[in-house]
Amino acid sequence: MEKINSLTGMMDLIANKSNKEELPNKIFHTEKVLESIFKNFSISQIRTPSLEYTNLFERSVGETSDIVNKELYTFLDKNEKSITLRPERTASVLRSLIEKKLDGDSHKLWYLGPMWRYERPQKGRYRQFNQAGVEILGYEEGMAEFEIISIISSINKRLKIEKPIIKINHLGNHETKKNFCDALVEYLKPFQSKLEEKDLTRLNSNPLRILDSKSSETQEILTNGPRISEYLPKKSLEMMDMIVSTFSQECEIQIDQNLVRGLDYYTGFVFEAISSNLGAQDAYLGGGRYDNLCKHLGGKDLPAIGMAIGIERLSLLSNVLEGDKTSISIIIISNNTEPKAYKIAHDLRSLNNNINFDIQLSDGSLKSKLRRANKDNADYAIIIGEEELKSNTVIVKPLSDNDSEQTTMDLNDLDNFIKNLE
Ligand code: HAM
Repeated sequence: MEKINSLTGMMDLIANKSNKEELPNKIFHTEKVLESIFKNFSISQIRTPSLEYTNLFERSVGETSDIVNKELYTFLDKNEKSITLRPERTASVLRSLIEKKLDGDSHKLWYLGPMWRYERPQKGRYRQFNQAGVEILGYEEGMAEFEIISIISSINKRLKIEKPIIKINHLGNHETKKNFCDALVEYLKPFQSKLEEKDLTRLNSNPLRILDSKSSETQEILTNGPRISEYLPKKSLEMMDMIVSTFSQECEIQIDQNLVRGLDYYTGFVFEAISSNLGAQDAYLGGGRYDNLCKHLGGKDLPAIGMAIGIERLSLLSNVLEGDKTSISIIIISNNTEPKAYKIAHDLRSLNNNINFDIQLSDGSLKSKLRRANKDNADYAIIIGEEELKSNTVIVKPLSDNDSEQTTMDLNDLDNFIKNLE
């Protein structure tokens, strides 16, 4: 029979009890840590559907972006409507706030979940990947920028990321952006024959993105070109300097005048966090200000800034594993005793929520069940057999400490033993 596999670039994540360092375990733990950081910043959760009408992304992420140009998972539904699996969630958050008439207020929101982009898969780049994101809406440029960098710094600290670099830049306001783009196009005109096709297209459709070019020849030409900082308002330059000086004790922050980001909706401060430990796909989060997007989508004038974190990339960098909770493997030996034995095990669970209880459900021998308990890194095995049940006792066998002897305990002592475990 033909084997059915998962789609290219889409991963199954299965937790593994015996090796906490495996990527799925790290991913699940990273998600928990991020959630606790977001709560610590008093950010509320938002969940939007995976599918949206295609024009939401065309209008927000932008027709000239790679995402909309070639990476969308777009289908016609049974009603012939064009729908798309979300490639990102900022647009969905705004669509939701506008639809619910919440776009007149300020909000701090976080989300977590899968996104889909039809990209060429490679290390750190998937077609279905997970993002956690934060959107801070209703605040002009200023403290919200500091709040975002503070969240990034907390993430780096809590997950013990080694040598992270935060790159920041400012794209200016509508007017300064236009002036800079005009100067850039003027400067590049004489070099058109040297630009590769992709950059030539950008020159006409979205000149700012040429700064992002992967071509070394283009980058060399750009070294003598206009600098975006020369066009920025003084206030924006000062804000970037203040961000660098406020956080420089905690992590390296570099001003990178070529950082422009690949989505069309950005308007001011932009940033990415990168790590050289990731290889070619080195950005583990990115974001920026998008003050015009809400209005552009038909809502109110709502200034906003946000970011999204690539969970898989962040988890690859994380040096923090799930803490060791005490775990107990419950081994029931005889079939005849199962209902009563199961009830004992069932009642134990409610005595201590901090402990993982694994009742082994198979019919194997004591030896094979102990082997299983050891493989799963259990701290104790509690063995319940016919003899024990008759005398209202169980056997408690420590597994993590080879020198400790097993003991027979009556059920009352067992309750106290479980209650006192940490
Ligand atoms: P983005 O830069 O497209 O921004 O994605 C954010 C992060 O998602 C990237 O830095 C990367 O870590 C991860 N990522 C992106 N594509 C892939 C992929 N194919 N495989 C694995 N990881 C990936 C946004 O999505 C914006 N919505 C961020 C934002 C929120 N801006 C304002 N608010």
